[in-house]
Amino acid sequence: MQWRRRHCCTHAAKLLYLLSFLGLLIFLVHQVWLPQLIGLPWWRGHPVVFGGEKLESTKVKSNVSSKRSTWHFVILPRPTFNVDTNSSHEKIGLSSLQEQSALDSLTANGTQTEPQEFMLDGPFDYIINEQNKCSEGTLAPFLVLLIATEARQVEARNAIRQTWGNESVAPALGFIRLFLLGKNEGELGFVQQKMLESESRRHQDIIQQNFLDSYKNLTVKTMMGINWVAKYCPHAAYVMKTDSDMFVNTEYLIQKLLRPDLAQKKNYFTGNNMRGFAPNRNKNSKWYMSPESYPGNKYPTFCSGTGYVFSGDLAKKIYRVSLNIRYLHLEDVYVGICLAQLGIEPTPPPNEFLFNHWRVSYSSCKYSHLITSHGFHPNELLKYWHHLQSNKHNACINALKERMSRTHSKRVH
Ligand SMILES: *[C@@H]1O[C@H](CO)[C@@H](O)[C@H](O)[C@H]1NC(C)=O
Ligand SMILES: *[C@@H]1O[C@H](CO)[C@@H](O)[C@H](O)[C@H]1NC(C)=O
Ligand SMILES: *[C@@H]1O[C@H](CO)[C@@H](O)[C@H](O)[C@H]1NC(C)=O
Ligand SMILES: *[C@@H]1O[C@H](CO)[C@@H](O)[C@H](O)[C@H]1NC(C)=O
Ligand SMILES: *[C@@H]1O[C@H](CO)[C@@H](O)[C@H](O)[C@H]1NC(C)=O
Repeated sequence: MQWRRRHCCTHAAKLLYLLSFLGLLIFLVHQVWLPQLIGLPWWRGHPVVFGGEKLESTKVKSNVSSKRSTWHFVILPRPTFNVDTNSSHEKIGLSSLQEQSALDSLTANGTQTEPQEFMLDGPFDYIINEQNKCSEGTLAPFLVLLIATEARQVEARNAIRQTWGNESVAPALGFIRLFLLGKNEGELGFVQQKMLESESRRHQDIIQQNFLDSYKNLTVKTMMGINWVAKYCPHAAYVMKTDSDMFVNTEYLIQKLLRPDLAQKKNYFTGNNMRGFAPNRNKNSKWYMSPESYPGNKYPTFCSGTGYVFSGDLAKKIYRVSLNIRYLHLEDVYVGICLAQLGIEPTPPPNEFLFNHWRVSYSSCKYSHLITSHGFHPNELLKYWHHLQSNKHNACINALKERMSRTHSKRVH
């Protein structure tokens, strides 16, 4: 017993040594050598003082970054406003020039990005890419689904593949599903990476870049997806960005909202319109936004990140304009700012029940007439999807019948 315990503990001590050595090594590589190799990264220590009237015009100097497109953290002196753009403030949901100036202060006047620069892969490299996913078909896809997910959500991805992300939802039209991921660190991250790579080989629906997969990096993830469409699938008719805990009625979206029989829309952006929302200044909130990051009192109209849809032509425009807009971690707000900068106002959906960023209680009737509902466990997704598939014709009549038989049986018992 005695021997065993000592044996175990010297082992544990060795392991501890090894682990701390590895940790130190990873730390050094990540914090010291890597930054030197790739130049000063934009997310750390940017030399910009923001706020107040005196804004310094500075430029991050880096030999490497000149080759790559990054989100510039450069803020130029406030541009003088065009007073005659007063109608466009209304259009993008801003009520005053003061808010427009808050917006302007986030942008760098669109002067730094060389035209050829913006079609690179973004500030990070791909670890997994699907460069030919879009060009494989004979015609440009009608819909590209961009689904934000994390490595550990394997079950959710599999459920989506079998349900609303199944390509056979729109077999003749061209339908692409892509899961968007960053990478995780540490030993767990290493194991997850191996599994992800084999999942990718099996399904070929994963794109991943070399940034830390965290909530605060969700904007990086989203811009990766938008950049992918712009670069590798520029002729896609429509794009939807959504999350992996969503129920998405892709069939309704395609057949009833986007309508393949109609001419493709341009400059079209829709979803759950959040109009006139103020930045959350409560530090404990998930949606906290510091006055330093966003000085304005109101966001421009944006669409909830749980699900928004836009025409393919916008991918390039949004990505391009983003290169001169300061990074904000709230992905949907950020995309809203890009749109405002483009002067594009999100279109309200035909009715307010289509895009739900909360969970709508299930009935085949309701679910056959909505596009998104939030907060699904993979098992629920499978269950409700299959129920909906077998009831989608006469969904409302069937739902009524079901309810009547339920109340009837209640009364009988
Ligand atoms: C880096 O840039 C500086 C000037 O900014 C230049 O003198 C130097 O040669 C560059 N180095 C490389 C490796 O390009
Ligand atoms: C701004 O809009 C108001 C009312 O909509 C109008 O009276 C005014 O002339 C506009 N200003 C400019 C500079 O266009
Ligand atoms: C910003 O844009 C305005 C008008 O578009 C232009 O006059 C001004 O020179 C630009 N500022 C810089 C620093 O490029
Ligand atoms: C997609 O749907 C088709 C037809 O309903 C089905 O045969 C196929 O197995 C589904 N794919 C997955 C991954 O479940
Ligand atoms: C975002 O990703 C970068 C690159 O991996 C990382 O250095 C940074 O810490 C991440 N940011 C957050 C807030 O997680």
